[in-house]
Amino acid sequence: MGRYEEIFQRSINDPAGFWGEAAEQIDWYKKWDKVLDDSNKPFYRWFTGGELNTCYNALDRHVERGRADQTALIYDSPVTNTIQKFTYAELLDMVARFAGGLKGIGVTKGDTVIIYMPMIPQAAVAMLACARLGAVHSVVFGGFAPHELAIRIDDAKPRVLLTASGALEGPRILEYKPMIDKAIELAKHKPEKCIIYQRQFVKAALYRGRDLDWQQLADAAEPAACVPVKATDPLYILYTSGTTGIPKGIVRDNGGHAVALRWSFENIYNTKPGEVFWSASDVGWVVGHSYIIYGPLLTGCTTVIYEGKPVGTPNPGAFWRVISQHNVKTLFTAPTAFRAIKRDDPLGEHIKKYDLSRFQYLFLAGERLDPDTYHWAHDRLKKPVIDHWWQTESGWPITANCMGIEEFPIKPGSSTKPVPGFDVQILDPEGKVLGPKQEGLVAIKLPLPPGTLPTLWNADERFLQAYLNMFPGYYFTADGGYRDEDGYIFVMGRVDDVINVAGHRLSTGEMEEIISTHPDVAECAVIGAGDALKGQLPVGFAVLKAGAKKTPAEIRKELTKLIRDEIGPIACYKETAVVERLPKTRSGKILRGTMRKIADGEEFKIPSTIDDPGILTEIETALKGIGYAKKDKNPLVL
Ligand code: COA
Ligand code: AMP
Repeated sequence: MGRYEEIFQRSINDPAGFWGEAAEQIDWYKKWDKVLDDSNKPFYRWFTGGELNTCYNALDRHVERGRADQTALIYDSPVTNTIQKFTYAELLDMVARFAGGLKGIGVTKGDTVIIYMPMIPQAAVAMLACARLGAVHSVVFGGFAPHELAIRIDDAKPRVLLTASGALEGPRILEYKPMIDKAIELAKHKPEKCIIYQRQFVKAALYRGRDLDWQQLADAAEPAACVPVKATDPLYILYTSGTTGIPKGIVRDNGGHAVALRWSFENIYNTKPGEVFWSASDVGWVVGHSYIIYGPLLTGCTTVIYEGKPVGTPNPGAFWRVISQHNVKTLFTAPTAFRAIKRDDPLGEHIKKYDLSRFQYLFLAGERLDPDTYHWAHDRLKKPVIDHWWQTESGWPITANCMGIEEFPIKPGSSTKPVPGFDVQILDPEGKVLGPKQEGLVAIKLPLPPGTLPTLWNADERFLQAYLNMFPGYYFTADGGYRDEDGYIFVMGRVDDVINVAGHRLSTGEMEEIISTHPDVAECAVIGAGDALKGQLPVGFAVLKAGAKKTPAEIRKELTKLIRDEIGPIACYKETAVVERLPKTRSGKILRGTMRKIADGEEFKIPSTIDDPGILTEIETALKGIGYAKKDKNPLVL
């Protein structure tokens, strides 16, 4: 039996022994009573009875044990032309003071705090300060519009909102303050205080009584000590798209999370304390939580906060510049970033300008890694390019080539094998386990390992309904895929209404809900159509009401604006096909799958249940009118 197989089998056959050992890498105020608590199935809890503090594990213990002068965080911001480095001692001081400021305004253990920040060191300080106090943070990605922020405010009910005066998107200044004010106006719940970090290029006007200046608060505060919390207490809530307009509040606990991330760092990423790890993502996404902030710092690594893009800031050599300048060993990003670099620098000329000798691994996740992008990255970089698959829910990788355990040959299109702790199975719709090469639904046998979601925020029933009820005894991932005869997993894409745009997860169901609020729209559908850069882009179909006063062109423009205003620019919603009717089955179900195939120029069978096959020609014509349904197949589809 190989090393991977041995470790994997042990993690499945003796999860308590396996994770109990891994938990020795974390400092506890009080050790757990039980490693795996299965007294309330199907809700499993890890390390019940244990007490720790995640911030202590990420900062204080490293300072106490010789890493005080090691760089903890590098802020690299091509958009503001800034590079700043913070040692563990400096970061700890900033975090402890800011936590002191939060404590001074009444934030205590169990309070919720929303963080709406650009990619600046203060975003890390905000998250860690909450962890220090035992407060539960919920970071909202800066590309979401006020309406989305308001939904999250109403669900998380934060005592305080932490933000900055603005962000830079390339050359554009985005003012955050008007968006925050609008979100609070829209929300029913009103945070008591907003703390605003003033950036030099844009100053926010503060409301007396509610708004406080970040720096003044931190400067006047006494450093706060770490507050012990239960292993099972929530560390954060992260909202992610589901099939409806109400996002799911994924809960992450303190104990299981710290243990799993610390374990993953050396076993999956083969990155050791003291080495430099760069995750080119955003703190608003799960990748940012796990592998910009918590994973590297729990391990005693140096992490990079990069405020820029893969291209255009200033050129497609940006990633190579950061890697060589900061001695990055491991880079983690989404395939889209590489498609953007490949588009702007197809021959990889920029790569040749930098010394990448210290760079060892490229990890990609967030969306399917198409073989073309894999080959381009591998051929140009001549380093292992590792596709790994996970979700906001899992919090860390479910399938990967675990570089710290045993390196397997790569099969492009596959994210290799299940990570120890994840008993991945391919099921048919009835829940029967399928054999090799049989495509089905990807599920994970319970219990899920530590660090995965224990439930949804204030929504146990929705948790059961969304993930556990479909196949009793399993967590359903909502991805489809198969396993080959060597045990490699191939994840083929979502089987629900969630689409993946530039590695970001979006709900077409939510877009449909918004489009149907337009007064001239009688009926609508949204699909994810293939896009050579972003993987998928949303495309809408609208049937107009009889007597609609505006022209189809005007309505299409308004729908684009509506989605941008309600969800935000990150929805990347640009196109609507105005049609006479939608293709449906005789029972009235809209044939979104067939519409997607037409949009992508794929072959499709006319469904036998279709009400009127003639509609499909109308759909094709409408799609051609907006640049889709060309005969060239979507290049990202295998
Ligand atoms: N705050 C505000 N707006 C944001 C934003 C943020 N943090 N991030 C993106 N946006 C805006 C963009 O400016 C753009 O607005 P526009 O329509 O006015 O131009 C829109 O949201 C869409 O953004 P994006 O899909 O990122 O497209 P882009 O053209 O700006 O960049 C890439 C394309 C490929 C460079 C970019 O998508 C990228 O770096 N992807 C890597 C994927 C990634 O990091 N995924 C995270 C999960 S691992
Ligand atoms: P998110 O929760 O935003 O991280 O999105 C998770 C979804 O992204 C998964 O359910 C998959 O559909 C998709 N995804 C993430 N990583 C991969 C990957 N390596 N291969 C294929 N799909 C992926």
